[in-house]
Amino acid sequence: PAVPLKLQVNGREHALEVEPRVTLLDALRENLGLTGSKKGCDMGQCGACTVLVNGRRVNACLTLAVMQQGKRITTIEGLAQGETLHPMQQAFLEHDGFQCGYCTPGQIMSAVGFSSEPWGQTDADIREGMCGNICRCGAYPHIVAAVRDGRG
Ligand code: FES
Repeated sequence: PAVPLKLQVNGREHALEVEPRVTLLDALRENLGLTGSKKGCDMGQCGACTVLVNGRRVNACLTLAVMQQGKRITTIEGLAQGETLHPMQQAFLEHDGFQCGYCTPGQIMSAVGFSSEPWGQTDADIREGMCGNICRCGAYPHIVAAVRDGRG
């Protein structure tokens, strides 16, 4: 049976009812209509579903919605400030860091999380730090350039 749950997403609190087996990804997409987080594999391998939970990168397909009560969830929809894109979104635009775009929300959320982690400054660090996000189009050189620029 569904249980009541409060989720704080992009600075807004949402009251919803979900079954305990529902993943955070499905709750975001199906219950809250936030379809920016993508479902690629639904098993933790592609990174398309990456969101931030209390500022840290999480694969939303691998965690249950009911475990996120009281935490601060940020999705791609919450990055821009009004009309102003987040610097990482701007960097992906400027460097053409995508082709089909399906992996892009996850890439950008992962890149924002990556930027606040203690990685080194080399492109090898970026490639390693971003290795949980797969791009089937192979846009990696542009993605690396975008992350290098967007992390500031
Ligand atoms: Fe979550 Fe692929 S959909 S990692």
